[in-house]
Amino acid sequence: MASKSAVFVLFLVVVAVAAPTAVAQLGIVGGLLGLIRIQGTVFCSINGAVAVNGTACPVFPNALVQLRCGSGNVVSSTTTNGSGAFTMLLDPLQTLLSSLLSDCNLVVGTPLATCNAALPGLGVLRSPLQLIGNTIAGLLNVVNIAPTGFLLVPSA
Ligand SMILES: *[C@@H]1O[C@H](CO)[C@@H](O)[C@H](O)[C@H]1NC(C)=O
Ligand SMILES: *[C@@H]1O[C@H](CO)[C@@H](O)[C@H](O)[C@H]1NC(C)=O
Repeated sequence: MASKSAVFVLFLVVVAVAAPTAVAQLGIVGGLLGLIRIQGTVFCSINGAVAVNGTACPVFPNALVQLRCGSGNVVSSTTTNGSGAFTMLLDPLQTLLSSLLSDCNLVVGTPLATCNAALPGLGVLRSPLQLIGNTIAGLLNVVNIAPTGFLLVPSA
């Protein structure tokens, strides 16, 4: 008969298989395992997803995406996949949700000219963050956060 702890260990194994980097970043919040997940897509465009004529822009694959907080400290970084999508996982014990939303931005470190030579080679795409909501999966409470929209700004 499976005890609670055996179920818990099994759960961790499932999490470990599904998201290897997640396990090291789990924190316990209110008796639940908590995790902050930032997810979004970077497009090869100076102002986000949609071109002037309404056509969806191509995505920006292999782009460096950094989470920068306060005066510009890089808190976390990742790279977009072939679909321009990225995911960042943060420990809620080390990252205060309110300061994440007020003091942090996502910054794309790879110049836009990399995905389209006609676009600027200077400046960076930057987006503030917004809270989407919580997902509770078993013992895991995931706080979902997304970029509000990437805009090209002159590099600091
Ligand atoms: C719409 O704009 C995109 C990006 O500028 C361009 O690649 C595409 O050819 C345009 N489509 C039409 C129908 O004009
Ligand atoms: C990129 O990641 C997204 C979200 O995880 C996924 O839906 C998509 O299939 C991935 N694309 C590639 C090319 O790996």
